[in-house]
Amino acid sequence: MQLIETVAGVKYQVAAWKAAGLTIGLVPTMGSLHEGHESLMDAARAACDKVVVSVFVNPLQFGPDEDYDNYPRDIERDSAICEAHGVDVVFHPTPEEMYGPNYNTYVVMETLTDALCGASRPGHFRGVCTVVNKLFNIAQPDKAFFGQKDAQQLAIIKRMVADLNMNLQVVGCPIVREEDGLAKSSRNTYLSAEERQAALVLSRAIFAGEQAVRAGERNADALKRLMGDIIAAEPLARVDYIEVVDGATMQPVETLGSSVLTAMAVCIGSTRLIDNFIYEEGE
Ligand code: PAJ
Repeated sequence: MQLIETVAGVKYQVAAWKAAGLTIGLVPTMGSLHEGHESLMDAARAACDKVVVSVFVNPLQFGPDEDYDNYPRDIERDSAICEAHGVDVVFHPTPEEMYGPNYNTYVVMETLTDALCGASRPGHFRGVCTVVNKLFNIAQPDKAFFGQKDAQQLAIIKRMVADLNMNLQVVGCPIVREEDGLAKSSRNTYLSAEERQAALVLSRAIFAGEQAVRAGERNADALKRLMGDIIAAEPLARVDYIEVVDGATMQPVETLGSSVLTAMAVCIGSTRLIDNFIYEEGE
């Protein structure tokens, strides 16, 4: 496995693979890797000849009061995990390598980015779309792998690839959870023992919502109320949003129809966590 820090270095390797007719899978990450990321690497390994994992804490997608400086970074640990999962290249650039002194180009999506996380994190998806676009141009993947954990991000990347006629397939992979239900996240490391316990309200609310839908609930308000009541019972939890939206457009729905995303962001102390489930009609 190679650890490459320059854009030119990755492009050089990618050109050689392309010349040999090999397919490339890309897994974009911000590092602090866990089993959620590993599931994406395994999916890429199974589907493509060569696998590139990018490990880059992207300054552009963090707000001024967010955790950019404190975001956990450990490239040695991350590299070892990548190597164990058969990754061919870890791309680990510096912010300067990605955004040079005269950097001036951004990818901005319209309405899809206004809802949910976009509403509480202005500029976040501009940063995500810009860096993912750059990573696609650098690694030139045939397939890129993203987690359903960040459902809005996945929908946005799919939209961007379709809108801009990019030559790759976006593959969505299921949410990986801890044994007790909590969705795996690099930000779970911020939680104290007490907060870690309190964070279980997210998955509890998600599972209760899923169960209600399975039992026939189709009213979005009733679903939001049910889930909101579960979060409200936990004193350390504060709801940022609970929304029921169309899975592709992210627009709110009143009644659950085909492909509906129920998503939430909840602060446990000062840590903001997200979770969601998708309902496909006829399931
Ligand atoms: P990061 O939070 O590191 O996540 C990288 C990828 O791992 C994303 O596609 C995310 O959805 C997926 N992932 C995280 N937790 C997961 C879980 N529990 N189960 C399944 N997949 C999970 O998302 C980002 O980084 C950044 O925004 C990025 C796309 C790299 C752009 O900077």
